[in-house]
Amino acid sequence: MTITVIGHGYVGLVSACVFADFGNKVWVIGHTPEKLERLRAGDPIIYEPGLAELLQKNIKAERLIFTDSYDPAIKESEIVFITVGTPPKPDGSADLSAVFTVAKQISHNLGPHFTVVSCKSTVPVGTNREVEKILIQNKRAEASIAVASCPEFLREGSAIHDTVEPDRVVIGSDNKDAVAKMLELHKPLPGKRVVTNLASAELIKYASNSILATKISFANLISFFCEKTGADVEEVLEAVGMDKRIGRTFMYAGVGYGGSCFPKDVQALTDTGKKLGVDVTLLQSVEDINHQARANVLSHVLKTVKGKHIAILGLSFKPDTDDIRFAPSVYLIEELLKKGYTITAYDQAARENIKRIFGDKITLTENAYEAVEGADALLVLTEWNEFKQIDLAKVKSLLKSPVIFDGRNIYEPSKMREMGFQYYGIGRS
Ligand code: UGA
Repeated sequence: MTITVIGHGYVGLVSACVFADFGNKVWVIGHTPEKLERLRAGDPIIYEPGLAELLQKNIKAERLIFTDSYDPAIKESEIVFITVGTPPKPDGSADLSAVFTVAKQISHNLGPHFTVVSCKSTVPVGTNREVEKILIQNKRAEASIAVASCPEFLREGSAIHDTVEPDRVVIGSDNKDAVAKMLELHKPLPGKRVVTNLASAELIKYASNSILATKISFANLISFFCEKTGADVEEVLEAVGMDKRIGRTFMYAGVGYGGSCFPKDVQALTDTGKKLGVDVTLLQSVEDINHQARANVLSHVLKTVKGKHIAILGLSFKPDTDDIRFAPSVYLIEELLKKGYTITAYDQAARENIKRIFGDKITLTENAYEAVEGADALLVLTEWNEFKQIDLAKVKSLLKSPVIFDGRNIYEPSKMREMGFQYYGIGRS
C-alpha cells in the first residue's frame, strides 16, 4: 500500500517507520526544510531508542520518502494520516488549527480514487467530522473520501515496541470501505481490533490517557495521607495493586506526571466536558493533585534545606526521553530560581532542551557526581537507570549536607537513613 503521514513528531515518525518496515511505501510530509534534510539523512530529530536504525533501514530500502509537498504524495496514497500537533490553548482546549489547515491541503491534492483520511493526532470528539466537512467542501468532484479515527497509544521511550505490539488497534468510522482499508494496513500488528464509530474512537483516546492520569493522581493523593500518618505509600499501593481488579501499573506516587500528553489531554477532556455540560470535577481534581505533587516537593525543600544550592538529577518528564514538556523539573527550577537558589543539574538526554529554556541561569554538568558536588541538597526528579545504583557513599561525601529528596521513590528509606542521609521520599514512612 502507499500511504502518507503528515507530521513527523513521535506519533507520525514512529508510525511511518513501522508501516514502511512492513513493506509499504510511506510519504512523510513536513514543512521545515532543515528538519526534512536531517530526516532524509537518517537523523530522527527526536530522542527515541531504536528509531534511528528503523528510519535508516527504511530510507535505504526506498520505502520512506520525506517531502514538503502534498503532490504527488496525497494522490498516490490510499490512506493519509494526520499526525500534527494539537497543543493546549491558554484555556485548556486543544488547538486544532494545524489539523484543519492540513485537511484543506489534503482536499486540494486528492487523486481521482477513494482515499481514507485518518486522524492519529489526539483530537476532541467531533474533530474528525469537521475534517470530513473540510475535505468534502474543498475536494474535486472525482475524488472520494472517508474519514477514520485511529488513535495512537504509544509511549515515549518505548514508542516502537508500543506501535509494533499494541494491546488494541482502534478504528472509528461509519464507512465500511474505510474500515476495510484500515484493517488491511494494520493486519501485521498483533492485538485486539476495536471497530467503532468516530466519536467513540476519539473518546477512547482521551478516556485512556485520563484514567492513567487519574491512577497517578490517586497514588499521589494516597502519598499525602501517608505523609500525615506514618503509612508507607509503596507498601500501601503494592498491596492495593495486588487486587487483580486494580493492578499496580501507573499507580506510582512521585513528583507528578508531565509530558506532552497527560497534562494536555486531561485539560482538553475537561474543556470538552464543560462545553457539553458534563461535570468534570474528577478531571479537575486529577490536575490539581498533579500540581500539588510538585508543589509539595518544593515546599519540603524550602522548609528543610539550610543553604541555597540545590542539585537536580533527572530533568526529562520520564526516563528514556529528552522531552521536558510539562516536566516537574521545569516547574521546580523556575520556582527555585525565583527564590534565589543556585542550581546544578544533570540529565544526559534532556540537557540541550533544558539549556534552551534556562540558558546560563543553571549549571548543567557532564555527570551526576559533578552536579551534587557542594550542594546543600539533592533532588531526584527522573528515575533514569543510572541513578538507581549510583555510588551513594560518593554522593554523600560530595554533598555539602547529606539531604536527598527522592521524587521518584527509587531509594530505600531505611538504607538511606542508615547511611546517614536526611532522606525524604514521596509518601514514605
Ligand atoms: C502517554 C500514554 O501512556 C500513552 O499510551 C499515550 O499514547 C501517550 O501518552 C500519548 O497520548 O501520546 P507518555 O506521555 O509517553 O505516554 O508517557 P507515560 O509513560 O504514560 O508517562 C507519563 C507521565 O506519567 C510521566 O511523567 C511519568 O513519570 C508519570 N507516571 C507514570 C507517574 O508519575 N506514575 C506512574 O505510575 C506512571
